[in-house]
Amino acid sequence: MGTPSRARRFEILPARVQDIDEVMEIERLSFKAPWTRQVFLEELQRDWAHLDVVRERGGGVVAFLNHWLVRDEVHILNIATHPDARRHAHAERLMRHVIEFAHAHRCRVITLEVRRSNYAAIHLYRRFGFRPVGVRPNYYAEDGEDAIVMLLDLDPE
Ligand SMILES: CC(C)(COP(=O)(O)OP(=O)(O)OC[C@H]1O[C@@H](n2cnc3c(N)ncnc32)[C@H](O)[C@@H]1OP(=O)(O)O)[C@@H](O)C(=O)NCCC(=O)NCCS
Repeated sequence: MGTPSRARRFEILPARVQDIDEVMEIERLSFKAPWTRQVFLEELQRDWAHLDVVRERGGGVVAFLNHWLVRDEVHILNIATHPDARRHAHAERLMRHVIEFAHAHRCRVITLEVRRSNYAAIHLYRRFGFRPVGVRPNYYAEDGEDAIVMLLDLDPE
């Protein structure tokens, strides 16, 4: 038996209440204005909200992605990887997963907002074919930074 490949060492699962501490730790280490526990708990309750985690088999949560399914659109609200686990394709794995989800639900588009200065995230989204379609000036209340609105067109199957 060989060593399991990196991909097989990790799995994507819907978050449970008991994952929220680990999700919040990643959130706290990743964002200037982290979401509160209450916000994450509310996400778990909403029918249209999905919070997925990447978990190392037998280990902890290393990344998460939160999205909403609204009619024929998926909107990505939040994606983050633990700083110690970045550049190991966890975000890429989550993006592939959400794109498959959107196709399975016959969605037309996936949308998101990203800080103008967030080079890493913009690079990630562009790799998956997202394109900038607008700007929301002063979108982030904590420092007034603009958001770039990005969109991925999905070919209906
Ligand atoms: C953006 C973020 C989620 C990427 O997570 P990650 O797990 O490290 O990303 P991956 O390893 O899957 O990288 C996939 C691709 O994204 C791009 N990318 C990721 N980090 C990058 C960086 N620091 N600089 C440039 N491109 C980057 C690259 O194209 C990369 O592919 P490559 O490694 O083959 O070059 C992570 O940096 C993060 O959590 N940032 C803080 C939270 C955040 O800003 N979220 C986005 C909110 S809109």
